[in-house]
Amino acid sequence: MTDFVTLFEMGPRDGLQNEKKLIATADKIRLVDLLSACGFRKIEVTSFVSPKWVPQMADAAEVMEGIYRHPAVTYAVLTPNVKGYGAAKRALADEVAIFGSASEGFSRKNINCSIAESIERFKPLLEKARHDEIPVRGYVSCVTDCPYDGPTPPEKVAEVAKTLFDLGCYEVSLGDTIGAGTPETIGRMLDAVLDHVPAEKLAGHYHDTKGRALDNIEISLEKGLRTFDAAVGGLGGCPYAPGAKGNVATEAVVELLNRGGYQTGIDLDRLREAAGFAHSLRG
Ligand code: HMG
Ligand code: MG
Repeated sequence: MTDFVTLFEMGPRDGLQNEKKLIATADKIRLVDLLSACGFRKIEVTSFVSPKWVPQMADAAEVMEGIYRHPAVTYAVLTPNVKGYGAAKRALADEVAIFGSASEGFSRKNINCSIAESIERFKPLLEKARHDEIPVRGYVSCVTDCPYDGPTPPEKVAEVAKTLFDLGCYEVSLGDTIGAGTPETIGRMLDAVLDHVPAEKLAGHYHDTKGRALDNIEISLEKGLRTFDAAVGGLGGCPYAPGAKGNVATEAVVELLNRGGYQTGIDLDRLREAAGFAHSLRG
């Protein structure tokens, strides 16, 4: 297993989507440009979702048009349906992400449909993306706990992750949406998922509500995962997961990985500068 760990920077999307105060498009562009200079290979820029559901992401096309495209960076966006996919393609997104859930309650609150309906909704999007040769990432939310349904059975996470992988997602990102996971529950969940999807096709996406995200990354490293989502400055939360805090701070993950002898390619000084700017954007 390689000692290189890929960090997928979530700050501009997961980090900002929950901010109540509308952030200026120019500031979002500046944040992405600062992050592009940090050494990331993957940055999630914005979401092509309904502006009625997430007003903060309503300027997705303008943000995509305004950012500098570093040749080494893949600029990714969220797309819940074919409509969002069409807009993402017009905005020249390098890759898109569909987002499902392992719990019914969160699926309904977040994307207004059941898990089974969401899979049917994703199929035509995946078909179009395959035709366009645009890679699709798949998220599974609430991998240990759901704010509406309580604990999530690991077998359900495995089932949804396998479905997304079999449908053509190049990677499945496992979301502890409300940051309630512990090394024990994350470990059990990973054991179930790893029976169906190999470690190199999985990513950990851990929110840090209870301060356990770094511990959860450590257990995931032990299980063989080498891709983690993180948000600069620890920004964010999900508008449909009340009380959930941001993704684990990217700076903290880089420090953890540096101590563990892993390579990330990230320039920590530049990242701290970007974190300072990201914090200045908060309401
Ligand atoms: P719906 O209301 O059932 O959709 O929402 P609809 O198809 O009935 O459309 C309603 C209206 O939205 C229509 O407009 C559509 O045109 C429009 P109207 O006719 O009323 O004027 N619409 C769109 N507009 C722009 N872009 C689109 C789009 N689709 C429909 N793509 C829908 C269903 C999925 C659209 C909605 O529920 C939605 O947008 N949800 C997104 C919620 C969201 O972004 N949540 C945060 C991201 S997920 C997350 O944070 C978790 C993650 O980080 C992992 C983790 O932590 O676990 C990824
Ligand atoms: Mg998230």
